[in-house]
Amino acid sequence: MKHYTKYLFGLGLAGSLQLVSCSTQHTNDNTMTTTQQEVERTPADVHSYAKPSEAIAKDLDLDIAVDFDNKIISGKATYQIENLTKTDKIVFDTRDLQIEKVYLGDNQEQTTFNLGEKNKFLGQPLTITIKPETKSLTIVYKTSPQAAALQWLSPQQTAGKKYPFLFTQSQAILARTWIPIQDSPGIRITFSARVKVPKELIAVMSAENPQEKNSAGEYKFYMRQPIPSYLMALSVGDLKFKAIGDQTGIYAEPATLETAVYEFAEMDKMLVAAEKIYGKYRWDRYDLLVLPPSFPFGGMENPRLTFVTPTVLAKDRSLTSLIAHELAHSWSGNLVTNATWNDFWLNEGFTVYFERRIMEELYGKEYADMLNVLGYQDLQATIEELGKDSEGTHLKLDLEGRDPDDGLNDIAYEKGNAFLQNIEQAVGRERFDEFVNKYFQTFAFQSTNTERFLEFLRTELIKGDEQLAEKINIEGWVFTAGLPEEHKKPTSTRFAQVEQTYTSWKNGTPAAKLNTKDWSSHEWLHFIRMLPEKMSKEQMNDLDKAFNFTNSGNSEILAAWFLHAIHNNYITADKALETFLTNVGRRKFLLPIYKALMATPEGKKRALAIYAKARPNYHAVSTVTLDELVK
Ligand code: BES
Ligand code: ZN
Repeated sequence: MKHYTKYLFGLGLAGSLQLVSCSTQHTNDNTMTTTQQEVERTPADVHSYAKPSEAIAKDLDLDIAVDFDNKIISGKATYQIENLTKTDKIVFDTRDLQIEKVYLGDNQEQTTFNLGEKNKFLGQPLTITIKPETKSLTIVYKTSPQAAALQWLSPQQTAGKKYPFLFTQSQAILARTWIPIQDSPGIRITFSARVKVPKELIAVMSAENPQEKNSAGEYKFYMRQPIPSYLMALSVGDLKFKAIGDQTGIYAEPATLETAVYEFAEMDKMLVAAEKIYGKYRWDRYDLLVLPPSFPFGGMENPRLTFVTPTVLAKDRSLTSLIAHELAHSWSGNLVTNATWNDFWLNEGFTVYFERRIMEELYGKEYADMLNVLGYQDLQATIEELGKDSEGTHLKLDLEGRDPDDGLNDIAYEKGNAFLQNIEQAVGRERFDEFVNKYFQTFAFQSTNTERFLEFLRTELIKGDEQLAEKINIEGWVFTAGLPEEHKKPTSTRFAQVEQTYTSWKNGTPAAKLNTKDWSSHEWLHFIRMLPEKMSKEQMNDLDKAFNFTNSGNSEILAAWFLHAIHNNYITADKALETFLTNVGRRKFLLPIYKALMATPEGKKRALAIYAKARPNYHAVSTVTLDELVK
């Protein structure tokens, strides 16, 4: 806590930084309680109704039951609160929740509450009447079967086909659809939970987890480190656990477990590499939960238990940078958290930077370079799509009035990463590592925003060096559209070889004669992305015969190849494409494919027909976007 006052007041309370004022006056660190410090650091969040500067929830005890028949979670949320301004109200976020009763304190005194006006994505504020001396309250509630965070899968939608499955996805603002909560990344809580599930199933959370089923179907959880609400997570299914190292392991359906154990065998090494770069892992265990294919993301960094798509099970460990990414969030995101969704790049930009460092440590610079080039291609495509003068391409966003879910894109990830790589270049790796280490230590278990990070950058790294300030070019990277002119385009020697191979194919060498020896899925992806938009049937056949793209077991290769198949009316891939779209719910793959289909009248017909069949397999996070696209 030492550095706190310095950074808070170092800002001069200026600019766009909004600090919530505190009830008690103070003069220095020593006179402040922890709570006052945290609250003062909470900037206004336009995506939450909570007023943490007045009354803040600090600890949650959940007591819930999971009802698969009715697709409902019901129970109680008991909060320990701090009434900072002795107000008569505390506000929580809710969306599609049924609030049955609210009690104050241990003697269960019923109190009044009000659910405010509905907003499509923000939901409704739940305002509860409290007393100046109220220390705890209990909300009795039920979720709706449509709760956007929850996906209820039938046995048919799982790998084992025997038992139903449930998982949550709380980021960005969906925690409020399954728990009444102060749903802002600027607010942290500790939690415990008691979860009742059908006896054949096991429950796991973003917390200390059981490793075996018990006969009662009742599980207890503790998360002793304070976390933001978007990291609240629960999954229930027929799961088995297998250890990888002492501190790491994998939960998956029995049918998937061995494949996953092979695929992610290196997760322990990743943890060692990460700690070497940014210091001790602060969450005790690091486990993975492999979900059914409808999981809408590649991965989700739920603390202690990353949720991961089975589409990275390529059987050759070639897509594991995703694990490095989610692990990296244990520092960037989970330990030091973006205070609002406008500061999302602080979570994702740092995480991509760190992910590439972990991969470099494990597999060398040439490997990390490939990831950088592919990321840069994604970045350029996104800038092109949004427009190079668009404010959506700033690192610091303004998402007021918008669903954060559709304002968050590759910019935060890849432009954020490019900015940090640019700083590393300017000061050298050693100095940059020291700086980032200090950043994580200083802001550990706190939320921070762009302005506060930049202030830290100025005082700890730039230190008045004008030449350096010019090289780092904060304004150009953070508050300006597109990419600064001087940005360095990443290159890759392994891709240079791919480019040669590609040229030789383009000049007439048959695909079967090309030199593709030892290519990883990254090289293949680069090759496929380079293929011309228009290809003849012969060319498509030639490639597919030699490399069997249509039946690839690698989801990245498939998704990239299908775009060519659509553009070139390559009907050989029709069936595989349909199977892919009906099984996989990962939004990153679905969007470009459906978009490509929607571009022609015949394609549109196919898209609508496939979507009608596939939609029940997708999570709400994917359908929200796809419903707008496929119509
Ligand atoms: N935290 C994100 C996923 C996310 C972002 C969910 C915003 C909801 C809103 C996660 O860490 C992530 O970035 N996942 C990526 C994988 C990564 C390797 C780029 C994904 O799911 O594709
Ligand atoms: Zn991420």
